[in-house]
Amino acid sequence: MNNKCETCAGHDQLLERRTLLKAALGMVVGLQALDFVAAQEIDPKTAPPKEDDQFVFIFGEKKGEIITPEDLPLNAPQVLAYPMDPKTRIVKDGSRFNRILLIHLDPAELSEETRTHSADGILAYSAICTHQACDVAGWEDVKKIFICPCHESLYDPKDGAKVISGPAPRKLAALPLKVVDGVLMAAGGFLGSVGPKRSL
Ligand code: FES
Repeated sequence: MNNKCETCAGHDQLLERRTLLKAALGMVVGLQALDFVAAQEIDPKTAPPKEDDQFVFIFGEKKGEIITPEDLPLNAPQVLAYPMDPKTRIVKDGSRFNRILLIHLDPAELSEETRTHSADGILAYSAICTHQACDVAGWEDVKKIFICPCHESLYDPKDGAKVISGPAPRKLAALPLKVVDGVLMAAGGFLGSVGPKRSL
């Protein structure tokens, strides 16, 4: 009698374990399905820049046109750009946080690290100020530095867009570049975080 009850208890425990295992497996499969759905739903217009993306003008006479190295004269003020997926030709203008500054400086004036993510002196940085997210649209052409017009943070594009002065707490995120067959494109995604620290 006792033996039978012990067998019953063992059988019940086995069933319980199987039920728990099935539930856990169900949760894993469910979470994987949710991840897949989320990945499918990423809006290509808000996706961050990635390797091989090209760039288009945000403003001016050439608004919407692809930016070539010839559009960026040496030591001229920065150009504001959005990345564009070269396969779909979708411009990633669905998020301000994709705004990019392009500038062409003398490679000899760049810090060693900055030179590693430039393409023959052409540099790309996030355009979003790390203080309160204004566009870093100002330029001082003697010292060759970016100026945020909102509260006058100064960034040095020759040295990784480090903060020289002002309330900005961090440097601008850099975007590595390359030129392939005369085409200017990203060599990867942003290095560092874009804009002010955001709570999730
Ligand atoms: S938003 Fe750029 S300095 Fe304040």
